[in-house]
Amino acid sequence: LRIAVLVETPPDEHRVAVVPESVARLIAAGAEVRVQRGAGAAARFPDTAYEAAGATVHDGAAEVLDGAGVVARVRRPSEVEARALPEGSILVCLMQARAQPDPLPTILAERRISALALERVPRITRAQAMDVLSSQSTVAGYKAALVGAAELDRFLPMLTTAAGAIAPARVFVIGAGVAGLQAIATARRLGAVVSAFDVRAAAAEQVQSLGATFVASQAIAPDAEAAGGYAAEQSGDEQERTRRTLADHIPNMDLVITTAQIPGKPAPSLITRDMVISMKPGSVIIDLAAESGGNCEMTKPDQTVEEVGVRVMGPTNLAATVPFHASQMFSRNVATLLLHLMSDGGIELDPDDEIVAAMLVNPAAGAAA
Ligand code: NAI
Repeated sequence: LRIAVLVETPPDEHRVAVVPESVARLIAAGAEVRVQRGAGAAARFPDTAYEAAGATVHDGAAEVLDGAGVVARVRRPSEVEARALPEGSILVCLMQARAQPDPLPTILAERRISALALERVPRITRAQAMDVLSSQSTVAGYKAALVGAAELDRFLPMLTTAAGAIAPARVFVIGAGVAGLQAIATARRLGAVVSAFDVRAAAAEQVQSLGATFVASQAIAPDAEAAGGYAAEQSGDEQERTRRTLADHIPNMDLVITTAQIPGKPAPSLITRDMVISMKPGSVIIDLAAESGGNCEMTKPDQTVEEVGVRVMGPTNLAATVPFHASQMFSRNVATLLLHLMSDGGIELDPDDEIVAAMLVNPAAGAAA
């Protein structure tokens, strides 16, 4: 089985899908790994490290793709790149389309390519180590707290100095899932006074165990947790009560980090323009749900919007700004998935496998590589 690792082409993408440590694991399991020259450079994994791990490094994408059974990427290929993938191969990457209609499934079907969409790893215990959404949310939540700290014109910690006492900043995290919990932990380490809100009642204990306060809302129904630990969508009335809770709490906050998502649906719109302008000038909102519509009605993806001195930021790819560790985690997820699929030196995509069934975008007939 030949696995191809390519240079990521989107300009804001600094991660790489497979790092040298995983190359060694895949080779030990019987695979051959070809890496495009410079694929790991932006994430600080030099070509020499890939060679030392047993991969071969090649100049052009065509050479890397020649005879490949599996093509591993972080981001989805462009249309041109998809047409260059070997016929009958298996593509493993994040497949989310920004625009609809999405031409990629048709191109892949024409070329009998089976795509495994990494954002669809099922939320079951045995797939946890393959879950790139969780690993990359960890990175994004951490970085959101750091970006927020850097953007504020005040300290996060309480300080007692010869120049007098400084009050700590107040940080509010909305959505206490993987990203939110990491943002809470990071803001706490920086000394902020942190509070958090989630519609899942189970999140309260996790928030409190990190030393933050859980903001309670009457909106929390016993069924706010859906299958797999995800949140269920709120009814109109519940959403209204959530908004009232947030409207009371937000005016006193210096930094708000939002991470609320409902799988497969647009992000819940929770922060209105009125709430934004109720904040003190200099306050910052970082909306990690920007790509799926935003938790704040003023959010614009990858832009900063300013209103009465309050800045609303909508970064969509914070994980790529911590490329070394984000790639290491992503790559461990991908390698665990590939090792799960590999047998006798090849790969069979068994549609009866719960993990394959959930991830398969384009089941090429009898896919095997
Ligand atoms: P997510 O990215 O889908 O959502 C982020 C958070 O937003 C969730 O905590 C959700 O409850 C919250 N949220 C949704 N609507 C909201 C609203 N209107 N107001 C406030 N908050 C709202 O979720 P994520 O971070 O991927 O994980 C959610 C849960 O699933 C966690 O308990 C996590 O531990 C669990 N999980 C389990 C996995 C497994 O078993 N393999 C893998 C990943 C997560």
